[in-house]
Amino acid sequence: MNYGYVDRRLNVKKLELDSCDEAERYCVQLYHHVANAVCLAGLKVLEVGCGQGGGASYVKRYLQPSSLTGVDFSQSNINFCRQKYQIPGLNFELGDAEALQFADDSFDAVINVESSHCYQDSAKFFAEVNRVLCPGGYFLFTDFRPQEAVVNIQRQLLAAGFDLIEVENITANVCLSMELEHQRKVDIINR
Ligand SMILES: C[S@@+](CC[C@H](N)C(=O)[O-])C[C@H]1O[C@@H](n2cnc3c(N)ncnc32)[C@H](O)[C@@H]1O
Repeated sequence: MNYGYVDRRLNVKKLELDSCDEAERYCVQLYHHVANAVCLAGLKVLEVGCGQGGGASYVKRYLQPSSLTGVDFSQSNINFCRQKYQIPGLNFELGDAEALQFADDSFDAVINVESSHCYQDSAKFFAEVNRVLCPGGYFLFTDFRPQEAVVNIQRQLLAAGFDLIEVENITANVCLSMELEHQRKVDIINR
């Protein structure tokens, strides 16, 4: 349920995927780009706004955190995720990004992909992420905003207590994915 990502560098090795994941390559590549910024192996990970769970499933199977909890505001998405993905260490819960149901210091990393634009108050969300993260934990975050709003998002992240370790504008990578995916999406919609 995201716009995807394409690595535009020449001669870069293509992300290796099992054949069952190939159809969602571009969406998976966005997750890989964001989540693989740190080594998640053995960590306790939360994804907020997990949608229909494909990204959470990819991260659990390929990047091997010890556990991954996906949270979404939509009960039908959570029902779908629970039915489709029965993977040890991967679970899904109904929840609200702006009032997370977890205790302080519960996770080593939090992932958030193309979801925060839906929230009423992104500053509140960032404060919640900081609260549920262990000290030294990682927030792996991507979304779109009008260009003039990006500075404010960065200010909110700093105000919530984060250090900005790596900031990247991936607009061109996402736009290329949208171009390459266009016909496949039209075909799905027509079906
Ligand atoms: C565009 S989808 C992206 C889903 C997924 N991250 C992906 O990339 O496939 C945005 C998701 O955010 C969820 N969402 C919106 N508001 C939310 C909130 N306040 N708390 C948790 N999830 C929320 C929506 O239900 C939807 O599943």
